[in-house]
Amino acid sequence: MSREVTRDAHGPAYLDEDDIHPEKGDIAVCRCGLSDEHPFCDGSHRRTEDEGDGVYRYVDGERLEVASVTFADGETVEYGAEPTGNGEDG
Ligand code: FES
Repeated sequence: MSREVTRDAHGPAYLDEDDIHPEKGDIAVCRCGLSDEHPFCDGSHRRTEDEGDGVYRYVDGERLEVASVTFADGETVEYGAEPTGNGEDG
């Protein structure tokens, strides 16, 4: 499984003691890229638990499987997913 993650930050997020969960006593940092509370985990990773070996992107909460990726050097890698109806990779 791979996942497209889009971010527009240009620097780090600094965590401090106020970020510690008051009941659990820990800080959960999102590693899946889907949290709406970034950089913190909000449980959105649960949507990824049944991902297969494909490449995925999430648009407005909907999971799409990417059919192929074309890199800047022109190389295209096919992943076997059916293309989406808009003519672009899903
Ligand atoms: S790890 Fe990303 S929402 Fe939990």
